[in-house]
Amino acid sequence: MEKPKRPKAKNYKKIWKLSQKELNTEYFSINKDGELVIHEGNYQYNIYDLARKFNGSSLEIFMPYVIEDRLENIFKVAKSYIKKFGYKSKFSYHFPIKVNQRKEFMLPLLSEGAHLETASANQLWLVKKLYMSENFNSRIRVVCNGPKTLEYINLIKELREKGLGIVPIIESEEERKLFKGFPGDTGVRINLKTRVKSHWDKKIDQFGMTLDEISDMGRIRGLKILHYHLGSQTKFENDHINGLREAFDAYVKIRKQNPGLDTINIGGGFAVPYEKKRLYSFESLLSRIFKNLKTWADKVGVPHPNVIVEWGQAVTAPAQLNVYKIVLSKKISKGIAKYWYFINGSFQNDLLDIWAVHQKFHVIPVNHMNAIYRNRVWLAGLSCDSDDRYTGNDYFLLPRLEDLEKGEELYIAILDTGAYQDSFSGHHCFISPPTKVILQNGIVTVARKREGPEDVGKYFGW
Ligand SMILES: Cc1ncc(COP(=O)(O)O)c(C=O)c1O
Repeated sequence: MEKPKRPKAKNYKKIWKLSQKELNTEYFSINKDGELVIHEGNYQYNIYDLARKFNGSSLEIFMPYVIEDRLENIFKVAKSYIKKFGYKSKFSYHFPIKVNQRKEFMLPLLSEGAHLETASANQLWLVKKLYMSENFNSRIRVVCNGPKTLEYINLIKELREKGLGIVPIIESEEERKLFKGFPGDTGVRINLKTRVKSHWDKKIDQFGMTLDEISDMGRIRGLKILHYHLGSQTKFENDHINGLREAFDAYVKIRKQNPGLDTINIGGGFAVPYEKKRLYSFESLLSRIFKNLKTWADKVGVPHPNVIVEWGQAVTAPAQLNVYKIVLSKKISKGIAKYWYFINGSFQNDLLDIWAVHQKFHVIPVNHMNAIYRNRVWLAGLSCDSDDRYTGNDYFLLPRLEDLEKGEELYIAILDTGAYQDSFSGHHCFISPPTKVILQNGIVTVARKREGPEDVGKYFGW
């Protein structure tokens, strides 16, 4: 049945910043009824319909094809610049498992040609599980970061013996001793002096060694990879290049004692435009990486280093969105926002980075996207915790609830939630996590079913 016509705001398509590749929103559009639509080639999904179908449950909606597109694009762009600049070495992508350890995220990455990066013995157990299933291409390489417990080291050695290409990244003199006699390739992690604009740029962190410490080690058995990680969500492209310059100079120095060193692993840090403001692109950064490395290497007469990137959130974050129903509202008497809108979920549970690092995720309505009148609102979660809220930079402008039609409820979507949030999630106040659905080939599949209080209770021994 035709829906009754509501007056529409003129500029509503612009307001929500959808359908823009440089903002990672090219998969989203708004239909003529003002509802959010996700596109997968010639398939499309009406998110308002989907949200109502799972009525009562918040949703995490995962789009594997987005991950595939993004990684494919990275490979395509890297290949084109390697050709353009006459770069003589290889490029590879290692997926840092910590960014999203869910199976449905990892499998499409592997099928696109991702290698892996682990941060713990348990993650390596996961790799072993995949490796033993004999589905792995024998060329896959795994770099192992993070503190090397005995369990972790034994697993590295076991997998190496089983024939897996595995490279422990040594982070201290103590760790080096633990790998004494390790017959395979190794790496070292350098703690660069370069500081970047990023939430994670700590003055002193627990990872890696200074150049002097690495140089003092002299020859390091099997050394192949110089690894660093400047910090996640590195805001400026120039910061990446400044870090690369310092790392390259260190690489040249370390190589004098370790001629087998042939790879620079620049770690993660490629920023996601969470706030829907333009940042840099894979094209611009990869072009500068290859152009600079070639110039620098040719100048000092060393072979072009192989390049590894571990860009985690840049590949996975845009592949997921969370959808919530507004279940309550409440007037705010003093404040720049006029209403609290309560969601059927919890920011502290589902999107911990809002609380932990003040991450600003982009919020859009799922229905009534063409509303003329909008309220200034703050969002609140269902837990009775004063930190369970999300106020954005100042407030959000979302459709007025009084303008909804009878029986209509307002749903909102929070974009770019595919990195880190799943592994941090919890069950504060016994609140159910979102139902997880996968959109693929025009079909919606449930990857994690809706959990009721009985399911949540099991986590706590009830
Ligand atoms: C060693 C290493 N590589 C890669 C990453 C992924 O970073 P991002 O998701 O910002 O790309 C991290 C994140 O902490 C890291 O520590």
